[in-house]
Parts: sequence; structure tokens; C-alpha cells
Amino acid sequence: MLSFYLPTKIIFGYDCWKNYQLTDLKKLGNKCLIVTGKNSAKLSGALYDTIAVLKYNNIDFVIFDNITENPEFSDIFEAVKILKKNNCEFVVGIGGGSPIDAAKATAIISANNFQDKEIYNAELIKNKIPIVAIPTTAGAGAEATPFSVLSDKNTKLKAGAGHPFLFPDLSFVDPKYTFTTSKIVTRDSGLDALSHLLEGIYSNRRNKIIFPLIAKGINLIYKNLKKVMKYPDHKIARENMMIAALYGGMTIAQTSTTLQHSIGYPLTSRLGITHGAANAIVMKFIMRLFYPAVKSEFDDIMKLANLKKNKFIEFIESFDIDISNKSNASIIADNIQDITKQIMNSRNMLNNPIKIIECDILEIYKKLKLI
Ligand SMILES: [Fe+2]
Repeated sequence: MLSFYLPTKIIFGYDCWKNYQLTDLKKLGNKCLIVTGKNSAKLSGALYDTIAVLKYNNIDFVIFDNITENPEFSDIFEAVKILKKNNCEFVVGIGGGSPIDAAKATAIISANNFQDKEIYNAELIKNKIPIVAIPTTAGAGAEATPFSVLSDKNTKLKAGAGHPFLFPDLSFVDPKYTFTTSKIVTRDSGLDALSHLLEGIYSNRRNKIIFPLIAKGINLIYKNLKKVMKYPDHKIARENMMIAALYGGMTIAQTSTTLQHSIGYPLTSRLGITHGAANAIVMKFIMRLFYPAVKSEFDDIMKLANLKKNKFIEFIESFDIDISNKSNASIIADNIQDITKQIMNSRNMLNNPIKIIECDILEIYKKLKLI
């Protein structure tokens, strides 16, 4: 039996947020908390559009712009405090995956009066307050997922919480906001989206309903990622990347992620490598590991995407992201026991198409010259 569940109303296209005039926004509440980072919301123009739309709808707002690249629990609790103090009735997340994930966590932690990390226990999530998502990168797909990935400085753990209440109520996906993303952020975000699409094939929760979306998303990234890196103002290519990232989000909303994501998390939390780059450097190794188990689905989707497997691997390798010379790379070797344990215990390991043992993880880190 197959099912597809996505309770988010997604509005897509150039100026879709700026020109939004339907009354469903006002139904979310009279006051909201805008959760965002320091830069991209302003640089992209998304924050100014948001303020204009809220004012037009007579909705009051408070801005919390302290979210950094890997949102920390301490920042989320700061946002929760502001939300409660100001009696905000809904949350608007603007930015890449991190601010949107932070906005989602702020909404759920507030609605359930959590005091610590209860958000990781889906059974404890009983209440929600509405979430609006406005992505400024083409990558995370958080506008269409029921996840929030959070970090803990003390335990060095980066892990995702999942619950249907983490789906945004409304998502406004305007490719215009991605024009100001740097070349590296554009690359890493696009490769994160590619990971999501591939994991829709690897995951043992894979779902034929979305195979055409996965194939189209892979094809769009193959054709457009390098184009947007070279021509950041290319309207059609930016739109194509935005739709591919949305398809990636819609995919993992159904299938969740796998080892591909969990093996990358320590590279982000301990070495500071961006999430997309961490996914990208393990991508071909994970593909080699999982391919025999998903050969027929993988080949079918490549055919649908009009791509040859070899050409596709060449494409992945062409980004040539090298981390072996990172000055702090020895942190991985020094903490390898902790790291493998955290990976083996992560929730998305339940979705792998084959049984993974610690040796498989060590083998990949060895290939990356990290241990
Ligand atoms: Fe991701």
C-alpha cells in the first residue's frame, strides 16, 4: 500500500509572497514571530516583503534574527521566550533550512511548553501553532517537510525531530530570494537537494507515487546547478533549482533520510562543514554502498531522468569538494567511537536499504581520509 501525505499549502513562483492577497494568512493569528538569521532574509528582500505583507494584512510582528547556520537549542529557547512574552499566535521562518527548522522548533516547543529536548520524542508532541515558511535557498526543502534538524553544542549532536505538526501550514516559495545566495551556498544547497532526491530511492520507505518527482528533480539539478553557479541571475535556472529543492523536500517528507544524512551530520557539527557539502562528499560512496540493493528502482529513475549512471557520477565528482586538508579534521579520528555510536543510534538509520554496521561507516571516513 502506498500513501502520500503533505498538508502544507505551497505557493510557488516569482513574487508569490509579495503579491499574496488571500485571507488565509490573517486566519493564522493577529501577531506573529518572524524567526530568521542575520543576513539572507534582508539581503534577499524576503524580510522586507514579509513586513509589507504582514502590514497589509494588519498582522503585528516581532523579529528574532539570531538564528545561525546550525540552530542551537539555546537560540530556540530564546525565540520561545520572545514568542510567549509577546503573545505571538504563529511563526514565520525566513531563510535557508536552518531558520525554517528553528521556526518550526520554536512553534512546537512553545505550543507544548517543552522545557528541554522533548521535541525529539514525537509522542510528547500534542499541540501546534501555525508555521509559515519562506525559503531563501534552493536546497533544504524544509518548506515541505515535517522535520526540524537541531544541534546541541555540548553533546555535539545534530539530529532531526520529526512530527506531522512540523509541516508548515503555508509555504511561499519564491525563486527571486535565491538570487543573492553566494556561489558556495548555491552549490551546497543544490547538493543537499540532490541528496534528498537520492535518499527517496535508497530509503526502505521509498514510494512509487513520487518516483516521477524524484526523476524530474534529479534532472533539473543536473541541468541547472552549474548554470546558477555561473549565472546567479538566471531566472529560469533559479526557478528550476527551487522546484528541484521543493521536490527533494516533498520526497523526504514521505521517505525520510538515511545513512547519507546521518554520516554527514558529524562533519557539520564537529568540523563546521556545511550540511550540503557534508552530504556531497559522501554521496558517491553511499551510492556505491546502496546501489546493489536498489538497482532496479535506481536504474528506472535514471531512465526517467534521461541520465546515464556514469554521467551522473561524473557530475557528482565534478564538484570536487575536498575536506581532507581541513586543519581540524583530526577531530573525527580522535572521537570516532562517539561518532559511530551517534550515527548508529540516529533515527534515519532505520531507513537504510541494507543493514549497516560500524565498519561501513569507518570505511567511508577512511576513504575521505578523515581516519
Ligand atoms: Fe538535508
